[in-house]
Amino acid sequence: MGLEIKSVLVVDGVGPRCAEILTSHGINVTTKAKISKEELLQEIPNHEALVVRSATQVTKEVLDAGINLKVVGRAGAGVDNIDVEAAAANGVGVINAPGANALSACELTCGLTLALARHIVPAAAALKDGRWERALYTGTEVFGKTLAVIGLGRVGREVAFRMNAFGMKVVSYDPYVPVDAYGESYGVRMELQEIWPIADYITLHMPLVEATRNFVNAEVFKQCKRGVKIINVGRGGLINELDLLEALQCGQVGGAALDVFEKEPPTDLLTWDVINHPSVLASPHLGASTKEAQVRVGEEIAEQLVNLVKPGTYPTPLAVVTQILGNA
Ligand SMILES: NC(=O)c1ccc[n+]([C@@H]2O[C@H](COP(=O)([O-])OP(=O)(O)OC[C@H]3O[C@@H](n4cnc5c(N)ncnc54)[C@H](O)[C@@H]3O)[C@@H](O)[C@H]2O)c1
Repeated sequence: MGLEIKSVLVVDGVGPRCAEILTSHGINVTTKAKISKEELLQEIPNHEALVVRSATQVTKEVLDAGINLKVVGRAGAGVDNIDVEAAAANGVGVINAPGANALSACELTCGLTLALARHIVPAAAALKDGRWERALYTGTEVFGKTLAVIGLGRVGREVAFRMNAFGMKVVSYDPYVPVDAYGESYGVRMELQEIWPIADYITLHMPLVEATRNFVNAEVFKQCKRGVKIINVGRGGLINELDLLEALQCGQVGGAALDVFEKEPPTDLLTWDVINHPSVLASPHLGASTKEAQVRVGEEIAEQLVNLVKPGTYPTPLAVVTQILGNA
């Protein structure tokens, strides 16, 4: 027996495929690209499910107002904009789409790695500024260099696989991946103390949890090769920003490409000092910002919702963040 979901509210500009899939299974959809808090509080009691991207804050107040709400779907990986504790307390299940943007995040990582190696961004900016500076922007090949992939989940293993094709020596570390799973496409498994002294590039792909906060810090930089380059398309907070700034200033770190920051958008002066450092290439959390990923996240959430109503309709697995009552 499936869950009864008659009506879904889809907000935050989730792609139209989400609504198309739901309506094709007889589920009513109300789509609001933008919704104010007041409008959301008024609208939410009419729906059994809510689909959000990142703009809408699903607070306790919203969850309390959703008297018929059974599921909140986050069209994306993180659930930072959903009060999951209040959802659990209200018996509202939370689901997400963790795999839908992995390729996009991986491709950004690969692009940033190459951009760091070849100074693509500053060289292009100089040329637009009328400066033809060939010697200044002489780069290095990535071929033959050692890339350390930390965290071999959905994104990290795709990065390892692709950068291996560039001829990089890929080494990796993920304490939760069984040793026998490592192979050509995962890179050579090493312990961190073995990785730091040999890596030319380090790319971070683990979650931000208590154990991984400030994972890369002054102690780590000290053990690294002078001039090491670091890429973070994972989460802000994995690198200690003050330690990074100091390591950039003294040349111990030769370059950093950062898509994620301690606070987003950054408000802290320190973060801006990091962003503005000449050896830093920074992007405003664009890892998942591709047309394909945006379509895929909407599809994944819609398919999961349909599966809750009509179990087994799609092969898409249910990505449960908090338990959905009636679907134990
Ligand atoms: N910039 C973006 O827009 C963007 C897009 C997608 C994902 N992300 C982030 O990238 C990261 C990876 O995403 P994913 O989908 O691959 O996640 P995932 O859950 O599939 O993989 C994370 C991996 O990290 C490993 N891990 C956990 N703790 C570790 C530790 N201490 N050391 C090394 N490895 C550890 C886990 O075993 C797992 O294999 C996440 O933080 C995610 O939020 C960012």
